[in-house]
Amino acid sequence: MLNYFDTHAHILDEKFDEDRSDVIQRIYDNMALTVNIGCNFADCPRTVALAEEYEKLYAAVGLHPEDVTTYTEEGWDMLCQLAAHPKVVGIGETGLDYYWDVSTKDAQKRLFQQHIDLACQLNKPLIIHDREAHGDTLDILQHSHARQVGGILHAFSGSIEMMQEVIKLGFYIGLGGAVTFKNARVPVEVAAAVPLERLVLETDCPYLTPVPFRGKRNEPLFVRYTAEKIAEIRGISVEELVEATYQNGKRIYQIK
Ligand code: NI
Repeated sequence: MLNYFDTHAHILDEKFDEDRSDVIQRIYDNMALTVNIGCNFADCPRTVALAEEYEKLYAAVGLHPEDVTTYTEEGWDMLCQLAAHPKVVGIGETGLDYYWDVSTKDAQKRLFQQHIDLACQLNKPLIIHDREAHGDTLDILQHSHARQVGGILHAFSGSIEMMQEVIKLGFYIGLGGAVTFKNARVPVEVAAAVPLERLVLETDCPYLTPVPFRGKRNEPLFVRYTAEKIAEIRGISVEELVEATYQNGKRIYQIK
């Protein structure tokens, strides 16, 4: 078994309600670790509970920028308490999403900053979502304390130049199914150019399913198809790619 590490999964999504225990069993049979990401106030306590139940699952807690309008002070206080749990290894996902709704730009930026403050307070890395907000995301990473804790730019969709800038700041690049898509160009260029010691693998399941299962539900084990594709792009063995990304994932999430 290779040390496959899915650094970004959403196992509590309702698409797993029918067979969640089977999906987790496949993690146990074939993989080293998975970090399950909580995105809203309802899911975060369940994410932590799942990580308490299963040794191979870790948790992250955050309020996704798409859910910014559901913010409440009580919810945030609860999230802060959960964030201190020893199996919570990251803060997020957080960040900016201008694809769905640009009317909440300022609120999203404030919420992002709150996550950065929390991450710094707890010394835990950030899990950053950036969709069509590359300029503002980079600006915040450059001009906040975020670099004190670092983190992962998950499902990275920026340019090579942006990749190089965030690497300079100490961040890691998360790549998933998009590198396997037929028309993928920029993700493939990034997969080839990113320093191996700053790359982590992810699925973002149930979304972004890699080829050959594109269009179907994604799950943590499918990280193997992304690993095979990136190894091919870089001209290295799958074993080397998987082991390097496993070590990187453990380093950024501070997992012993
Ligand atoms: Ni996600």
